[in-house]
Order: sequence, then structure tokens, then C-alpha cells
Amino acid sequence: MRKSVKVLVVGNGGREHALAWKLLQSKQIEEVVCVPGNGGTASLARCQNLALAVDDFEGISQFALQHGITLVVVGPEVPLAKGITDHLQAQGLLVFGPGRAGAQIEASKAWAKALMQEAGIPTAKAAVFHEAAAAKSYVQGQGAPIVVKADGLAAGKGVTVAETLAQAQDAIDAIFQGQFGSAGEFVVIEECLIGQEVSILALTDGLTIRPLLPAQDHKRICEGDTGENTGGMGAYAPAPIATPELMARVQTEVLERAIATLRAKGIDYRGVLYAGLMIAPNGDLKVLEFNCRFGDPETQVILPLLETPLEELMLACVQQRLAELSPIAWKQGAAATVVTAAGGYPGGYEKGKVITGIEQAEALGVTVFHAGTKLNQQQQVVTDGGRVLNVTGIGENFEQAIAHAYTGITAINFEGIYYRRDIGHRVLSE
Ligand code: AMP
Ligand code: GLY
Repeated sequence: MRKSVKVLVVGNGGREHALAWKLLQSKQIEEVVCVPGNGGTASLARCQNLALAVDDFEGISQFALQHGITLVVVGPEVPLAKGITDHLQAQGLLVFGPGRAGAQIEASKAWAKALMQEAGIPTAKAAVFHEAAAAKSYVQGQGAPIVVKADGLAAGKGVTVAETLAQAQDAIDAIFQGQFGSAGEFVVIEECLIGQEVSILALTDGLTIRPLLPAQDHKRICEGDTGENTGGMGAYAPAPIATPELMARVQTEVLERAIATLRAKGIDYRGVLYAGLMIAPNGDLKVLEFNCRFGDPETQVILPLLETPLEELMLACVQQRLAELSPIAWKQGAAATVVTAAGGYPGGYEKGKVITGIEQAEALGVTVFHAGTKLNQQQQVVTDGGRVLNVTGIGENFEQAIAHAYTGITAINFEGIYYRRDIGHRVLSE
């Protein structure tokens, strides 16, 4: 088959390495350009990194037009919320990812909550406040535990699950004192839900919406799901808690309602709609949040199981032909990824540590997606972020996939390496 598709991937995390890696498996793909990419995307054949900022919309569009880019795929939420899609579309480019209006579903928790209420999507009871005194008096009336959320994008750090009223009051003060910048102009106070979290990422062309395999993340830094929240320390798919019955309910009660309500607001949403759900012990489902992009590290376990060429799905979303495609094809089995982090993460950490053993790990059968890495002047791969590598194993079942990932990690080293030893504990104990 003729290679004809050139894709530009915006972002520099493990998610973007996985997107580039998956796209390059398709015979149709001539080239992938990552902006700015990382040490992993720099090492992929037929892939180059372009040193532009993810919010340099003019630079990205000029390059894409000059270079004959077929499709731009936007990884992170920040450029989506700033309107990268609107900007590039206005130049005639095809872009996978919603425009600024649609990205509000992630960029404003108050906006997303109002949309869920309007659409009849099950979600936690919530109230929105513009100033601290009213928020505190509401919290006083509700009691703890209670959840306090900064309205806007805060890199996953704007949510406090407060066990006590004092913690909730402190979180409210921090938000209104500007700790999250303009993300903290409003606060959303929410009832505290209990249960298991699951991530349902779905592809949509604004009319049709098709879920990918369900995944589960591990947000806390320490084993046993304790300690501080992080961007995610490991994941696996397909998550068994998302039974076919649950997925059918998510389709009708969450995904279709969201897309219909966006459309009713005049928002043509094309890309990924990611629903973060809480499943209560009695099976009730509620949406904790929506994201307007692929999850990280969920993508690193979903894409290794995908058989349908990714660019076919993405182009169908962008060109509003998703309903015409055959069902998405998946490999049998399971995938698990373990995140290796820099010592100190999610607090302060050092960068620039030389990473060894990636090729040896891959020789053991794992796929290593780079997150915070880069090539130094000697072309060595060095650490360049808090979450450094995503070591991904696949297998016939979770035991195999998880064992592969941990076997791969034994080959890898860098100063201060930290990872959780219990990724997948839920599925292994079931
Ligand atoms: P969010 O960014 O809204 O998904 O929140 C980040 C994390 O905070 C979630 O993944 C949950 O672990 C937790 N969280 C958010 N909302 C709630 C809630 N209503 N009840 C319990 N935990 C929550
Ligand atoms: N893994 C959580 C996220 O992507 O938001």
C-alpha cells in the first residue's frame, strides 16, 4: 500500500510517544513529526521531533502547511483549551481534538458540571462558588469528607479530597488566594464518592461515539493507593470492572448524552471524550470528570491492544465518518504499564540522569514509552521530567502482562528511579 499520510503529534509525554509509535505501525503512514516530542519519539524510525512550543500555533501551522501534514493530533489539554484546533482549522488543516469551546468540558469543571446536569448525566452533587466565605459556609453545612476543586486546568493538582472540614477550608483558601492562577476564579464543591475509578476513552466525530477499551489508572504515588496524587503511576486494560453491561450504560447514559448536549450547544466535538467514572460498590456509576484528550498513562495500555489502524479512526473522526467504519478491532489479552518516576516526584526532583537498559528491556519483550526524557548532547537518553518511562507489557492475561512489565523494569536504571511494585493489584487479587 502507498505510504501517504503524514501526521503531526503535539505533545511530549508517554501518551504522545505511544500515539506516534502506534501511528507508525500503519502501512499508510509515511512520517510522524512530534512537537516537541521527547527522547523516545526522537529514537523512532520515520519520526522526527520539531522544537516548537505546544502553544506556538502559528509556528505549528506554518510547518504543517509547508510540510504537507495530512492530520494534526493534539495530545495535551492545554493547547486544546487555548484553541489550537480552531487556529489550525482556520488555516485549512485537519485536526484531531476538539476546538476551544468543546475543550471547556475539561478546562472548566463548573462548565462541565452544568453540562452534565443539563444532559442528565449521573454525577456527584455539586455547587459552584465565586468567593471563599460562601464556599466555606456550604462546606460547613455539608460536612466532611468533601471534595474541593479549582475550576480550571491545574495539571491534576486542583482537586482536594478533604477528609476533614479544616482540610476543605484550607483548600478553598488556597484556590481563592491564587495558588492555581486563573484556574481558581471559581471553586466546585462536590459530594465525596467512594468506589473504583475507571477511565472510558471514546472516539467521536461529533455525531457518533465509540468507546475504546476501558482502563484503570493508579493515581497515588505509594503502594496500596496511598500518598499524594500524581499524573498516574501505572495502568492496565481492559479493566474487568467495566463489564459489557456497564459499558452499555456508559454509552447511553454518559457518552451519547454528552455528545448530544454539546451538539445542542452548537459545539461540533471531534476527538477523544474521556469520562473518568466512579463505580460504587453497588454498581452505580457517576462521572467524576471529563477530559478532552487521550489519558496518560491509559493510552499506553489501550493502544498496544488496538488492531484497527489508528489514523483510519482519527481521520474518520475528523471527517465525520465514524458511523461508516467497521467495529474497532482489538487484540485478545491484556496490557499493563508501570511508570518509573524520578526520586522525589510528585514533589521536587532532579533532571538529567542518564538512563540505561532501555534496549535490554525491549529485548525482554516490553515496549518502553518515554515520558520525561530527552537526548543530551552526547545522544544519551536522560531524565527530563517527573514521570520518566512507561514500561508496558502485554500478555494473554493480567498476570502475564504485569509480570512482563516488571521483568522489563529490572533491566532499566537511572539514579533515583522509583516505581510502584503493586500496579494491577486489583486485577491480580480478583
Ligand atoms: P478530577 O480531576 O475531577 O478527576 O479529580 C481528580 C481525582 O480526584 C479523581 O481521579 C478522583 O480520584 C478524585 N475525585 C474527584 N472527584 C471526586 C469525588 N466527587 N469523590 C471522590 N473522589 C473524587
Ligand atoms: N490518567 C489520568 C489523566 O490522563 O487525566
